[in-house]
Amino acid sequence: MKIRLGLIGLGTVGTGVVKAIQRQKSFFKKSLGFEIEIVKIAVKNTRKKRDVKLPKGVIVNDPMLVCNDPNIDIVVELMGGETVAKKVVLQSLKQGKKVVTANKALLANHAKECFETAGKNDSCIGFEASCAGGIPLIKCLRDGLIANEIIHLYGILNGTCNFILTQMLERDMDFPVILKEAQEMGYAEADPTFDIEGIDTAHKLTILASIAYGVYVDFRNIYIEGITKISIRDLQALDELGYNVKLLALGNFSKKGLDLRVHPVAIPKDHPLSPVSGAYNAVHIRGDIVEDIMLSGPGAGMDPTASAVVGDIVDIILGKINESFHRTSPKQTKVNYIPIDEIKCSFYTRLVVKDHPGVLASISSVLAKNKVSILAIHQQKLSTKNQAEIIITTHKATNKDFYKAINVIKKAGYTVTEPICIRCAQKDSF
Ligand SMILES: NC(=O)c1ccc[n+]([C@@H]2O[C@H](COP(=O)([O-])OP(=O)(O)OC[C@H]3O[C@@H](n4cnc5c(N)ncnc54)[C@H](OP(=O)(O)O)[C@@H]3O)[C@@H](O)[C@H]2O)c1
Repeated sequence: MKIRLGLIGLGTVGTGVVKAIQRQKSFFKKSLGFEIEIVKIAVKNTRKKRDVKLPKGVIVNDPMLVCNDPNIDIVVELMGGETVAKKVVLQSLKQGKKVVTANKALLANHAKECFETAGKNDSCIGFEASCAGGIPLIKCLRDGLIANEIIHLYGILNGTCNFILTQMLERDMDFPVILKEAQEMGYAEADPTFDIEGIDTAHKLTILASIAYGVYVDFRNIYIEGITKISIRDLQALDELGYNVKLLALGNFSKKGLDLRVHPVAIPKDHPLSPVSGAYNAVHIRGDIVEDIMLSGPGAGMDPTASAVVGDIVDIILGKINESFHRTSPKQTKVNYIPIDEIKCSFYTRLVVKDHPGVLASISSVLAKNKVSILAIHQQKLSTKNQAEIIITTHKATNKDFYKAINVIKKAGYTVTEPICIRCAQKDSF
């Protein structure tokens, strides 16, 4: 059997996919009984030098030539972005082609339209590579854990942020220096906004929470905070207190509704997510039968992402792809998103204050008046004249009460710089 493939995009992932297909050619033929022929690849710049050998005429400059080619069975969208990508995915599905995509931004914002179009055209979409790169996370969630209700899902889903936070602490350097290095090494994009502001992680959480909970999650209901305000001082202080800081995607699923957040979390060092370092991804899932499992591995990059894309292609060829976006039939009920204000957690805050008598007592009093109970407090004089640093960790408080107290402290003029606040996990309560 010969399967004809069309690619849209021959960048990092596209190149990895072509290389993997060429490398696995005889394995596919001998062990799985099919051959894959790459018929067309659409790119933006047809003159660019490519890192793969391809027959003449394969590279074209118009994605629609791929979507509309009657000789192509499967279209693999690896161009990124939303507008053109959505157009090519919908057009391919309407032509009755199967689609594979690694595009989390597209699915986070348009999954419903894409999957409804697939359904109407008796087609399907493989999207394993959209979350956590080389880790077969979507398969695990949809198939392996099908017998479970998912109680929570906590994930380190952005390798760039994890790399930056790990390097800052290991090398005692601040955020801007490590970000610049990460860009030079190709770990961060030239425009790193989506990564460092938590948007990329929230796109992935939208997809994973939709699968876990059986609804189309609306990306706009995810609370998002990135890592740009965290300094080396905070990482060191939290390290001494027994925590590692990670940018986490958090999904808690209960009868009350969905608690979906992306923000930095100080994780106790004995939690399995805590030691996950560098560009690695990891996801901790609790199911009601299986209890706790954790998956970890390379969350991005040419080869790991190609592994997931080619896995989907093979599944489609073997007729094994799950045809719906969800693992169960979507729930019809209206989704209740729990607002961040109502979430209860412990906090770390670092305040740089005027070193005057009574400031510490006043701050403690503001916290108490706002129902925030102090767990530990540490004050030290700073070398800057008349300034002191106060580090406070709290017992659990609602986000509303804690930030109300912080605003009162700021307005009272006790602080000289913007307070840094990081939520702390306790055991497995995030
Ligand atoms: N990189 C990763 O590690 C990773 C991991 C997981 C998921 N993903 C997702 O995979 C997708 C691709 O990522 P990537 O890193 O491979 O991107 P990339 O390196 O920027 O490659 C994008 C490719 O798309 C082509 N392209 C862009 N606009 C086009 C247009 N209008 N018409 C035709 N071709 C067009 C580009 O052509 P030229 O080559 O001519 O510029 C390039 O070949 C994205 O959705 C990304 O979020 C990436």
